[in-house]
Amino acid sequence: MNDVESIWHVLTTRAVLTPAQADFLFSEGFDPHREQLYAMADEVRRREVGDDVYLRGIVEFSNICRCHCAYCGISALNADASRYRMTRDQIAETIEAAHRLGYRSFVLQSGEDPGYTVDDLCGIIGHLKDRFDVALTLSIGEWPREAYAAFKAAGADRFLLRIETSDPALYARFHPHSTWERRHRCLMDLKELGYQVGSGILVGLPGQDGASLGRDLEYLRALRPEMVGIGPFIPHPATPLAAEKGGTLAACLTFLALLRLYLPDAFLPATTAMGSIDPQGRQKALRAGANVMMPNVSPMENRESYQLYPGKICLTDDAGACRKCVERMVTAMGRTLNTGHGHIRRKVF
Ligand code: 5AD
Ligand code: FES
Repeated sequence: MNDVESIWHVLTTRAVLTPAQADFLFSEGFDPHREQLYAMADEVRRREVGDDVYLRGIVEFSNICRCHCAYCGISALNADASRYRMTRDQIAETIEAAHRLGYRSFVLQSGEDPGYTVDDLCGIIGHLKDRFDVALTLSIGEWPREAYAAFKAAGADRFLLRIETSDPALYARFHPHSTWERRHRCLMDLKELGYQVGSGILVGLPGQDGASLGRDLEYLRALRPEMVGIGPFIPHPATPLAAEKGGTLAACLTFLALLRLYLPDAFLPATTAMGSIDPQGRQKALRAGANVMMPNVSPMENRESYQLYPGKICLTDDAGACRKCVERMVTAMGRTLNTGHGHIRRKVF
C-alpha cells in the first residue's frame, strides 16, 4: 500500500497511526488529500452527533495568573498586562445578560488566580446555580483534588483543562511552574470525581512534530474526554515565544478531523483561536468535525486585557452581536443552533 492508501485504511479502522504516518498527515505531501479527510470527519460528525452546533458562553472572570506558560499573554511574566478580577455579582450580572440572549451553558474561565479561595469559588458556583438554570463549566487550571471535589459539590458540571501536549519534555519546556505528570494527575482527578471533562492541545508549538501530534491523539483517545478543544499556538509579542512561528489552520483542521474520527461522539469546538488566524477558521472547523462554538460573553471593558494571544476576534463585538453573528453563521451552513445545556449523550463502544 502506498502512503495515502495505508492512511485511509488506518483512519477507517481507527488503528494507531505510526509515527511516519502521523508525520505524513501533517506534512505538505498530504495537502492534496486534506479536503477528503475533512469531508470524512464531517460525515462522521453528521452521523454521530447530528447538525446541532452547541453554544457555550465564555466568561473570562479574572486575568490574574500565577503561572508562567511561555506562550500565554496573561502569564505572570507579562508585567505589561493590566489585570482585573470580577466579583461574584459582576459574574452573575454577566451571566444574567447572556441568559437573556438564550445562553444556558457557560464556561467560567480565568488565570490561576490566588485571589480566590476554594470557598470563594464555591460561593460563586453555588450562587450561579441557585439563580440560573444553566450548565457550568470551569476552566481555572490546576487545583488539588479536594478543591475539584468542592467545586463539584458546589454545582460545577464540567471542567476544561487542556493537556496542551502529551509530551512531558515539551510540556516542561513551556510550563516551568508545573509538570506534565501533575497536569495529567489533575485530569485523572477530574474524571474520577465525575466531571464531564474537556481537554485539548495547542497545535504548532515550537519543537512539536507530526509524530508528537500522533501521540497527542492517542493520549486524548485513551483519556476519552467529553470535549476536546484545540487551537493553533499564536505567538504573543510579550512572551518568550514572540519570535517563534505559529501553528497553521491546516494542522488544526487535520487534528480536529482526526479527533472526530477517533472520538466520534465528543463535543469538538470551532475555537476562537482558529477564527483568529483565518476569517473563515471557525466555519472551516464546523465542516471538518466541529459541533460547538464558545462565544465570548465577558464585559466589554475586560476584553482587551484577556488576550492570551494577539489578533483575538470579537474584542469589540458585545455578547448580543456575537449571538446574532453565530446564529447567521450556523444557519447559513445548514446547521442548527442549540442553546440548551448541551450534556453529552455518550455511546458505548
Ligand atoms: N496561542 C494560542 N492559544 C493559547 N492559549 C494560551 N496562550 C495561547 C497562545 N499564545 C490557550 C491554551 C490554554 C487556553 C485557555 O488558551 O491552550 O489552555
Ligand atoms: Fe463575535 Fe462573529 S462571533 S462577531
